[in-house]
Order: sequence, then structure tokens, then C-alpha cells
Amino acid sequence: MKLKNYKVVVKGPAYTANSPDDFHYMDDAIFCVDHYGYISDIYMPQHEKYSTVINIARSEDYLYELKKGQYILPGFIDLHIHAPQWPNLGKSLDRPLEQWLQQYTFPLEARYADLDFARKTYNHLVSTLLSHGTTTAVYFATVHRESSLELGKICLELGQRALIGKVAMDDVNNCPDYYRDCSAEHAISETRRFIRELLALPGNEKGNVLPVITPRFIPCCSDELLSGLGEIAKETGCHIQTHCSESDWEHNFVIERYGVTDSQALYNYGLMTSKTILAHCNHISDDDMSIIESASAGIAHCPLSNFYFANSVFPLRHVLNKNINTGLGSDISAGHSPSIFEVCRHAITASKALNDGVNSQLSSEVRGYTGSSVSFREAFWLATGGGGKVLDLPIGQLREGYFFDAMVVDTNGPDSDIIIYDDDTTEDILQKLIYNTQRNNICKVWVNGENVLNKHK
Ligand code: GUN
Ligand code: FE
Repeated sequence: MKLKNYKVVVKGPAYTANSPDDFHYMDDAIFCVDHYGYISDIYMPQHEKYSTVINIARSEDYLYELKKGQYILPGFIDLHIHAPQWPNLGKSLDRPLEQWLQQYTFPLEARYADLDFARKTYNHLVSTLLSHGTTTAVYFATVHRESSLELGKICLELGQRALIGKVAMDDVNNCPDYYRDCSAEHAISETRRFIRELLALPGNEKGNVLPVITPRFIPCCSDELLSGLGEIAKETGCHIQTHCSESDWEHNFVIERYGVTDSQALYNYGLMTSKTILAHCNHISDDDMSIIESASAGIAHCPLSNFYFANSVFPLRHVLNKNINTGLGSDISAGHSPSIFEVCRHAITASKALNDGVNSQLSSEVRGYTGSSVSFREAFWLATGGGGKVLDLPIGQLREGYFFDAMVVDTNGPDSDIIIYDDDTTEDILQKLIYNTQRNNICKVWVNGENVLNKHK
């Protein structure tokens, strides 16, 4: 029997999702990870190679075997997070979006001209996210090219897969003088240079860290900047990220400026591609959904931050019914939790609120938007395979040919709130993992088959 040489073999029970409503449980599978970090083979106990691979991996010391009560999940994907807003986690949530940006957020982001401040904050953020099981994050950094590159270096050092954007924002009316690109031309040339320099970072030969073209949102960008960034997207094929139809103010601002919605305007500027990640999209119409769907763009649903800034609940069920690529985002610090487990719970709760309605003074027949609920199975998909599909990367599923980005949840871990009983089915257990996993339950995290938990000093 010819056997391959592996980097690591992981043995234990595992869950993965293949589609929004279809999870797959593998009892005591072995995941054989090659030297590039891909899952090369998955063998179940009845396979002829199963025991031999385990024996060799054990004798050569590259077998990782789960204990009773531990489960493997794909690593979670955070599709929308503002790295520089980490110091504001859990505060300053008392103003509407447009005031929150000016009063709290832009002054904080301006501080990232200081590389030491950036390094310290980003180190703490990235290591915290890894310990919550977030193996891939899609970051907005700041306008500063150098500290945005620093975030890339830290992700490479700590082993997190990341997509990172130097934020582009030049509009003199909506960006403060102390925090904006000094001109469209400058923002465009800095974006080009950022893309080049990030890809060339030492240690990034495999592209674990990718650049993202990042117009902050239409109100902060001049026409010249938006069209220049569209050109870069066409030339480079890079990912693109922005905020789309987030709040009443923002959605109406774009309609007043262009006579069309965010989705149509982004399309017109060449910024709606299969590599586009649109944060929020709470106020999109059916026509907007058609634009997004036909471009194969994706949505980062940020349910927690939406409660504070979006003035509405995102129509998640409707979007899933239309087969639009969708995943989840923490939207730190507009969202106050770094945990994508938490974001799953908020996505479910928000959908329930939309389904049943929120105003008890209305009769139940008119109170809600029936048929809006999503299940824990769908939330699990959104946090994993859904995010991978949005990014068009082989991540988010425990499947041959995908990167082995994964975590182990220990239900018997210290101070565990995950209580498993003998009569729990495999589906019950997955439900309990989604609802009750805390940071202290996550005892192992891999990216590319490399251990990345507690790598920080
Ligand atoms: N729109 C423009 N910038 C931001 C931001 O930093 N957070 C959120 N939630 N929305 C935005
Ligand atoms: Fe955001």
C-alpha cells in the first residue's frame, strides 16, 4: 500500500457544512493534511488505509488525536472587521452611524499613523481572534499604507489567514481634514503600492495574506477615487470591500448623490465583481439583489452592529432564498463581540425578531415578516462554507482539496457551558456547540494545518 507523507493527521469527530441547511457529521474521521496545508485525504474507520495511516502518524509523531467530548469544526471566517477599532470594543455605541464615525471612530483610526500603536493593537487583536476560532479575517485597516502593511506582517507572524485593505477615503465634505487621503490620485497610488507591497511581504509566498481594494463607503469617496479603484480592480482582479446600503442615512445619501442605490453605483464604477464583499446591505431592494447575484458578489451579514447602526434587520432569509453568497462579520467595533459564535447567535436572534416582529402593540398578523427565521444549521454554514464561497477561496469546509483551517471545541474544557447528555443526537450537539461555545472551550486552532493558538508572546 503506497502511503503519502503528511504534515499532520488529525483524528476525531467533526462537523462541516456543505450548504446552508445541510451539515455533515463525520464520526472519528482522520484528516490527512499535506505539506501545503491542504486536506489531502479524509478517511473514515472502514477505509483500508485508516489504521495504517494512524499507526505511521503516531510513530512519526504527527498524529493529533481528540479526546472524548472534543469536536473538530472548520475555522470560522469573519468577513467584515475594522482592525483599528479594537480599542473601542464595547464602548461608544450611543450615536447614529454618521455621528459615531466623526465623534469616535475617525479620531481613533487617525492614531494609526503611529506604527508602534498599530503594532501593539493589531498583535492583541489577531491573537484574540485566533483564540476565538477565527482562522480567516477580512480587515479594513486605516488610510495609512504602512500600518496597514504592519497588520499583514502580524497576520503572517501569528498565522492567521487574512484579507486586508488600506482604506481609501478622500471626500473633503465627509472625511475630516486630519483623517483622509489628501487626494483621489494619492489614494489610488497608495492603494496600488499597498497591493504590491502586501503581496511581496516576506513569508507571504503562499498568499496567506491578500490585499483588498477598500473604498470605505460611497459618502467618503469622490467620483474620481471610485473610478480609479474600479480600474485597479479590473487590472488586478483583487478582492474589493465596502459598506453597502447600511443605514437610512447612508442609503439615502447615495440615492441623492447619484439617483441610484449603492449596489447600482458600485456596479457602475466596476466595483461589483465576484470578488466583492459588501458589508450590511440592510436596505437593498430586489433589484439590488439581482445586481449582486448576477455579479456573484457576496454579502457580509453583521447582525450585532446592525442593531446599533442599520435602523433595520437584514433580510437574511430572503437573500439566502435568492442564492446570494453570504457569510458573517463581527464589524468590530460597531459590533461589540470578537466571537463569530456570538455572531451566529445574533444572526439567529435577529431573524427571529424579523419573523415575529417587535412591536407588541400591533396585532400578531401584521407584526412580523413571516418566514424570516434562520436556523443554527444555516448560521453554522454562514460562519464557515458561506464565508469561503463569498471569498472564492477553498476554506470553510472540511473537505479534500480545502485548506485545513480548523478548531477543536472541548465540551469538557474549563468552566464549560456546553452540557452534553447521552440522549443528545449529533444534531443536538452541533446546536449546543453553536449556542454555547465560549473562548475557553477552544483548545486547538490550525491554519494551513499549522498550530496557531497561543503563538503570541
Ligand atoms: N460605514 C463607513 N465606515 C464604517 C465603519 O467603520 N463601521 C460601520 N459599521 N459602518 C461604516
Ligand atoms: Fe463596518
